[in-house]
Amino acid sequence: MLNVALPKGRLGERVYAMFEAAGYPCPSIKENNRKLIFENPECGVRYFWVKPSDVSIYVERGAADIGVAGKDILLEYTPDVYELLDMKTGICRMAVAAPKGFRDDTRRALRVATKFSKIAGDYYASRSREIDIIHLNGSIEIAPILGLSDVIVDIVETGTTLKENDLEVIETIVPISARLIANKASYKFKNEQIKALTAHLAGQLQAED
Ligand code: PRP
Repeated sequence: MLNVALPKGRLGERVYAMFEAAGYPCPSIKENNRKLIFENPECGVRYFWVKPSDVSIYVERGAADIGVAGKDILLEYTPDVYELLDMKTGICRMAVAAPKGFRDDTRRALRVATKFSKIAGDYYASRSREIDIIHLNGSIEIAPILGLSDVIVDIVETGTTLKENDLEVIETIVPISARLIANKASYKFKNEQIKALTAHLAGQLQAED
């Protein structure tokens, strides 16, 4: 049995549909209840829904053999896992955004509000720009409006959230998409199964192209 951690929510539903199309269905997953674990012994898979930012924890520690996590999470938490496949979904970008007309005053540290402290820290370190990180857990967009920060580092998908809060992208840091990841020991001991599943998913992605 392959244990598969899927990110709960819209992305997870899209990802499950990809696993289903690749030959790993689990019909009971569509029953509308609050169960979090579903298995289909015939296909040798057991799915479980976890918080998107927790997928890599389950996979790194071997509670899941494989999982699907955003590249943002992989860059932020650098889990010790294998990255097997770009799932070409959940596509967005990590960006710096600021209120319209923002000018950087390089005489002082730039105040950066973000959920992604490591990504932001690495980015500004690479540019030798001194920053003051303000770590928040959500609603990042309001930080510059209320004067808590100068800029934000956050995920931008459609750009609607920024627009509706009078912010704009000033720099793109890195493109983001969902990735298939594997536990390192599982990759060794369940190699055939994991390779087959990866190949089926890759084939499915190509067919959709
Ligand atoms: C992300 C991000 C932005 C929003 C961007 O939040 O933090 O708020 O999506 O999307 P848009 O460009 O299409 O408007 P998410 O919905 O992932 O939830 P979060 O508040 O938990 O970060």
